[in-house]
Amino acid sequence: MLEKRPFKVWSPEEHDTWRMLYERQCERVKKLASRAYYLEGFEKLRLTSDRIPDFYRLDEVYQREVGWELFSTDTQFADGQDWFEHLARKEFMITEYIRDKSDLDYTPLPDVWHDTFGHLPLMLNQRYAHLVYDFAHKMLKYSKEERKGMGSIWWYTIEFGLIREEGEIKILGAGLASSYGESVHALSGAVDLRPFDPDYIATIKPSPHEFHKELFILDSFEQFEDFVNHWDA
Ligand SMILES: [Fe+2]
Repeated sequence: MLEKRPFKVWSPEEHDTWRMLYERQCERVKKLASRAYYLEGFEKLRLTSDRIPDFYRLDEVYQREVGWELFSTDTQFADGQDWFEHLARKEFMITEYIRDKSDLDYTPLPDVWHDTFGHLPLMLNQRYAHLVYDFAHKMLKYSKEERKGMGSIWWYTIEFGLIREEGEIKILGAGLASSYGESVHALSGAVDLRPFDPDYIATIKPSPHEFHKELFILDSFEQFEDFVNHWDA
C-alpha cells in the first residue's frame, strides 16, 4: 500500500511537453467528447496549457466534489490488482512521468498526460466516479484470470468507450480523450462502431499498441451502470 507522498515538482521541459499536448488536444475534446461526462468536468478542472496542473489544488477539488483523493506514484500502472485496490479506496493515482517530446502521440503505459487529461475530467462526475468505485470492487472479487473478460470491458468503456448523447456519438473513454490521433480516428468512419455488447467484448484481447479496429457505443450511461450493477448477479 502506498503512502501519500508529495506531488512531483515538474521541470520546465516537462511543463513544455504538457503545453504541446494540451494545445493540440483541447479543441479536439471540445468537439468530440461527451458533454455530460467529460466536458463538464473538464471545464470545472480549469486546466491550462502552460503547465502540468498543481495536484495539491486538484486533490482538494476531488475531495470536496466527489470524495476521492489523488495520489502521486512513480509506478506506471497498466491495470491489475494494485490499480483496482486504489480505485476501490477512492484513490486515483497520478503517474509522475510524462511522455517524451519526440513521441507525443504514444505512450505504452499511462503518464501524467493520460491520467490527467484523459481520466480526471470524467472522475469529477459523481455518477461516473461511483461507477468506477463499484467496478473496481467487483474486479477485486475475482482472480486475475477470472476477471480477464471484465478487464476487456473496462478497456472498451473506461479507456476507449463511446456513448450516445443527444443523437450523436461522443467519446467517453479516457484513452480516446487523451489521444490526438485516435480521438479523431475513432469517429472518422474508419472504425467498426458496434453497440455495447459485454458478452462479445469479454472475448476480445485488446492491444494498446495500435488503433482499434472496432469500438463500442453505450446507448446511455444508465446502460453502463446497469451492466456493472448486475454483472455478478
Ligand atoms: Fe487510463
